[in-house]
Amino acid sequence: MSVQSHVRKITTHVLYEMKLRGEKIAMLTAYDYSMAKIVEAAGIDVILVGDSASNVMAGYDTTLPITLDAMIYHASSVVRATEKALVVVDMPFGTYQGNSKEALLSAIRIMKETGAHAVKMEGGFEIKESIQRILSAGIPVMGHLGLTPQSIYKFGTYSVRARQEEEALKLKEDAKLLEELGCFSVVLEKIPAQLASEVAQSIKIPVIGIGAGGGVDGQVLVLHDMLGITQEFSPRFLRRYHNIADEIQGAVQNYISDVKQRDFPNEREQY
Ligand code: KIV
Repeated sequence: MSVQSHVRKITTHVLYEMKLRGEKIAMLTAYDYSMAKIVEAAGIDVILVGDSASNVMAGYDTTLPITLDAMIYHASSVVRATEKALVVVDMPFGTYQGNSKEALLSAIRIMKETGAHAVKMEGGFEIKESIQRILSAGIPVMGHLGLTPQSIYKFGTYSVRARQEEEALKLKEDAKLLEELGCFSVVLEKIPAQLASEVAQSIKIPVIGIGAGGGVDGQVLVLHDMLGITQEFSPRFLRRYHNIADEIQGAVQNYISDVKQRDFPNEREQY
């Protein structure tokens, strides 16, 4: 029997156990109650309230503009829909890079006001103090290395990261550091599969990949991308499981046509 199927709640310890037994971890994003309810009912292990909400919910070009208040709104809606999944919330840009005290206050707000179980932060050595302070308050932290969208203006593109030896070495050191600090897991985004697999084998905490190949401990995708709600984004790593945008558009067109032709509402659909 799988670890996942015999626990009532997925905790950070359950994730360790899954890694130990070679059981893959499935993680998806969600930002609202209704979608989170569906994702939870499907049996997802981890729900990430990603700051990708800035793109897919609010329509910004980057993840930078989303605020702490907005993340708290999305996260509390998701938490109300979940029973078993572990809910992780992205700390938005500007709430943890400045100083560790502000980072702790931001993380405390997330935990208190949403009921989520953990936070996620982008970066390694540069944000060490913030991670330490948050961890010392008893708040579980998931790291995020490789392509870190909050630093898009530093890198200039969303291309594959850590292809060069120097960047790969720094990533390996950062992953080790996150483990030593006490992070419970780390996301590796858009890096060579070989490197991701080496990192996953070199640390005990679960490594969740997105565009990082199959040699890691689990996978994450943005829900709106894998469902085909967002259409303009199609990197090589993205597998689309549906084309919901077309289905929604078709349903809306049918509704419009029924209203215009006085077919809706009919006799049975009124009082
Ligand atoms: O914000 C997000 O959705 C993420 C995932 C892509 C890992 O950080």
